[in-house]
Amino acid sequence: MAEAAMKAITISEYGGPEVAVLREDVPVPRPGPDEVLVQVACAGINFMDVHTRQGKYRDSRTYLVRAPCTLGMEGAGQVMEVGSAVTHLEPGDRVAWCIAWGAYAEYAAVPARLAARIPDGIGYDQAAASMFQGCTAHYLLNDVAQLRSGDTCLVHAASGSIGQILVQMAHRAGITVFATASAPQRLELALQRGADHAFLYDGEGFARKVREATRDRGVDVVFDSVGKATLRGSMNATRVKGLVINYGNVSGSVRDLDPMELGEAGSLLLTRPRLADHMRDAATVQRRADAIFGALLDGTLEIPIASRHTLETVQQVHAQIEGRGQVGKAIVELARA
Ligand SMILES: NC(=O)c1ccc[n+]([C@@H]2O[C@H](COP(=O)([O-])OP(=O)(O)OC[C@H]3O[C@@H](n4cnc5c(N)ncnc54)[C@H](OP(=O)(O)O)[C@@H]3O)[C@@H](O)[C@H]2O)c1
Repeated sequence: MAEAAMKAITISEYGGPEVAVLREDVPVPRPGPDEVLVQVACAGINFMDVHTRQGKYRDSRTYLVRAPCTLGMEGAGQVMEVGSAVTHLEPGDRVAWCIAWGAYAEYAAVPARLAARIPDGIGYDQAAASMFQGCTAHYLLNDVAQLRSGDTCLVHAASGSIGQILVQMAHRAGITVFATASAPQRLELALQRGADHAFLYDGEGFARKVREATRDRGVDVVFDSVGKATLRGSMNATRVKGLVINYGNVSGSVRDLDPMELGEAGSLLLTRPRLADHMRDAATVQRRADAIFGALLDGTLEIPIASRHTLETVQQVHAQIEGRGQVGKAIVELARA
């Protein structure tokens, strides 16, 4: 099997959706000593795939993915082979993973420490739709924000994939949730997910509304995945000595921030965390995955699959995500292992 060829979506240069090319002659990868070879059943389609394709990680020290490569950094499937140093997984195991590239393909070699076992009752489609954003929301809420019942937070892009999960988890933990989105139906979705208040961005006008609703105190923590368009408003919406978590930059990176602005806004803390630093060993990965899969199984978390695709239609989904036309999670369906 190792010499066999497979279908995969690859890039040989950075650029628009058109550089993501479907090839049928990509060699099936061989697992290294610390890897497992997985027959991919489903892959998640994420904004991070768009960023990878655009070359945003070309100089990253956290994410070593570089063109040429196979796209896709989230998937689920069956373990076919294990590397010589892998002791906690075996052929036949059902696993899901993220932040390991190569998932838009029939087979992927995945670092074993990033592959979490999937419990009975969770299908490959649900696992591939949940692993990346679920683990992200889990570490942001529990490890970075460390909010408690009775605290307050603002979740930007609350109808986005991570936004929806953050809103549900925070609401369930007894945290008052303020939400933003770009359209009334997206606000409605955030309210359905458990947000207590929801506002259109209105430029940075959301900050004034948050201040009004909190009697000028501001929220304890802001989860900001939008970046350039919202970050200063986020600072204005945060209480004195509160925390702004800039975990994404879908509107562009903030490149002109003077630390003095954090002082002026009320001695704020600002952090730019990365999932990779919160998924460093197999036990942590499995713990986060168990929390997400457990919540899906007991019905306290919903991660709907908004659209299902094949390798042939990935380019269109990328264009849709970039054009702000995608609401919720898209997946690619491959083998039904
Ligand atoms: N730091 C980390 O550890 C980490 C981990 C995972 C992902 N991320 C990042 O988190 C971000 C969100 O990920 P996601 O999976 O939730 O994405 P998603 O499902 O595609 O949602 C993105 C949301 O951003 C909003 N948005 C605001 N301005 C936008 C713009 N100019 N273009 C496109 N969308 C815009 C959209 O909602 P509205 O139209 O309502 O504004 C959209 O729903 C991405 O940047 C991703 O790379 C970071």
